[in-house]
Amino acid sequence: MQDDPVNDEPKAKVDDNSGVSRRDFLKISTISAAAVPILGTKVVQAAGEPVKVYGPGKTPVELTINGQKHTLQLEPRVTLLDTLRDQLDITGAKRVCDRAECGACTVLIDNKPVYACSVLAIEAQSKSITTIESLMQGENLNPIQQAFVDNDASQCGFCTPGFVVAFKAVLDKNPNASPEEIRHGLSGNVCRCGTYHGIHLAIAQMAQKGA
Ligand code: FES
Ligand code: FES
Repeated sequence: MQDDPVNDEPKAKVDDNSGVSRRDFLKISTISAAAVPILGTKVVQAAGEPVKVYGPGKTPVELTINGQKHTLQLEPRVTLLDTLRDQLDITGAKRVCDRAECGACTVLIDNKPVYACSVLAIEAQSKSITTIESLMQGENLNPIQQAFVDNDASQCGFCTPGFVVAFKAVLDKNPNASPEEIRHGLSGNVCRCGTYHGIHLAIAQMAQKGA
């Protein structure tokens, strides 16, 4: 027997036990959304729960970056990377693949490394965002940056900020991390022009310092 495309319609993701079909869910949501606008934000009922809906227009977004607060008006679809680079001129995090594959855009959110190209700015509110720009102390390089310089660990440099930020996340968590643990922490970062030898030397230098 062939599948019935109407009766086999997938259920709404919001509640697998609700018995609400995707079509019903969209219908209910549309009615609710039209009914309850609150200060530019709409509220819809999904599986009996009120859910705020932002956009598609601009909405206020407040971000804390390197300890400084920034209030912006952004469409909810805008990524953290685009916000940093295009709205705030904080350009250390690089856009390379723009699809969570290379790590060039790595920043820390609440001390955890994330791909800024794959996080919406609106999701990063109320969190502490750290970028490569925060690492230098005045004219002095952070020791990780210095280890990259000492060991000639960059060529084009596009991947380097991401490597350094991911490296910092490892050492912030464990200042005595072994070379193997550091390498594991950098496994989400890719260098296309082949400076892995220099990066491994920088890892060895930093691992020795922590020991
Ligand atoms: S630019 Fe974000 S992972 Fe490549
Ligand atoms: S230094 Fe060029 S991609 Fe890493």
